[in-house]
Amino acid sequence: MDRIPIAGPGITQREIDYATDAAANGWYARAGEYPRRFEDAFAKYLGVKHAVSLPSCTSGLHLALAALGIGPGDEVIVPDLTWIASAAPITYVGATPVFADVDERTWCLSAMSVRACLTENTKAILPVDLYGGVPDYSALRTIADEHGLKIIEDAAEAIGSEFDGHKAGALGDVAAFSFHGSKTFTTGEGGMLVTNDDAIHARVMQLRDHGREPGDVQFNNTEVAFKYKMPPVSAAIGLAQVERAEELVARKREIFDWYRRALAGVDGLTLNHEPANTKNTYWMVTAVLDPMLEWPKEKLMAALDTEDIDSRPMFHPLSSLPAYDGQAEAVVARKRNEVSYRLSPWGLNLPSAMNLTRAQVQRVTEIFRRIICVS
Ligand SMILES: Cc1ncc(COP(=O)(O)O)c(C=O)c1O
Repeated sequence: MDRIPIAGPGITQREIDYATDAAANGWYARAGEYPRRFEDAFAKYLGVKHAVSLPSCTSGLHLALAALGIGPGDEVIVPDLTWIASAAPITYVGATPVFADVDERTWCLSAMSVRACLTENTKAILPVDLYGGVPDYSALRTIADEHGLKIIEDAAEAIGSEFDGHKAGALGDVAAFSFHGSKTFTTGEGGMLVTNDDAIHARVMQLRDHGREPGDVQFNNTEVAFKYKMPPVSAAIGLAQVERAEELVARKREIFDWYRRALAGVDGLTLNHEPANTKNTYWMVTAVLDPMLEWPKEKLMAALDTEDIDSRPMFHPLSSLPAYDGQAEAVVARKRNEVSYRLSPWGLNLPSAMNLTRAQVQRVTEIFRRIICVS
C-alpha cells in the first residue's frame, strides 16, 4: 500500500496550461503579466486593495516589519506556538520577538497573554492564523488601538479562513501568505503580502526592489533594501490556484470533516476548533491528545511511520528551541506560556494533502484508533 503523505497540492490541467504558457511566453515585455494577474485575482478574492507577489511568506513578513519602520530597540509580540518563520523576520530587522501564549481552544495568540507582554517598546502584534484557525481579532484590535500598535497578520496557513465575515489577510494592517508546496494554494515556493493601507503598500514596493521607486528605469536606488519577487511561472500556477479558490478551500474542509466523523467519540482527543464567528480552513488536521493517553507526539509519529503514514509534530514553543537559547525573552516565555508548553508535546498534524481520498483518511483514522487503543 502506498505511503500516505502529510501534505501536497491539488494540481489540474489549468495550472499546467498556465505554467506552460508562462514558460513559453512570460518573458520580455510579458514578464510581469502573470504576477500582475495573480496579484489582482488574489486581492479580489480577499477583498483587499493591494497584493504583492513574493518569493515566500517569510519575505512578506520581513517587508511588512521593515515597511512599518520596526527596528532595533522595538518589540513585536508573536505567539510562542508557531513556525519559526513567524518570528525570524523580527530578528532580521533588529527588533526583539516577545513570545506570548496561545488560547487553549484556537491554539492561536491569546489576547490576555498579549496584554501581559506589552511594554513601552512594543510596536506591533504579529498573530498567526495557525493551521487555518484564527485568533480573536476583535480582542487583538482593541489592544492594538489602545496602545497605538500595528497588527501584522501571519496568514501563511489560512487562505480562505474568516473572522466575523472578513477573510484572513484582511484582519491585520498588513498580512502575508505562503504558497509553499504544502499550503492550500501553492506555487512551489512563494508568498503574497496584502494590505488596504496605501502608505504601507508604497513603502513595500520600494523596499522589495532594492530601494528604487516602482517604474524606475535609471537604476536610481535611493536606499539599500531587498530583492523579493515571484517568478512568472510560479505566478501562473498561483493564478490557476486562486481561480480554483472555492474548490480548494472546500476540499480542505471536506477532508477535516472526514476526520471529524471518523474520530468522533475518541476520549482524550481534540481536533482543530472553529469558534462560532469564524471559518477554519484546516490547512493541517491536527490532533492533540490528553497526556493521560501517554502518547507523546514523537512516539505517535514513529508508530504511524511504521504504518506508512506521514505526520508532523505540532510546532514546539519557539522559546524552547535551541535557536533562542540564552535569549532573555525566551527564558521568560518558558515560564509564562503554560498553554503552549502543555499542548505542544501531545499534538501532531495528520495527513492533510489536497488529493487525499476518503479511503486514505479511513485507513489513517482506523490505525490511529488502534494505536492509541480505543475503538
Ligand atoms: C505560520 C507560518 N508562517 C510563516 C511561514 C513561512 O512561509 P514561507 O515558507 O513561504 O516563507 C510558514 C510556512 O510554513 C508558516 O507555516
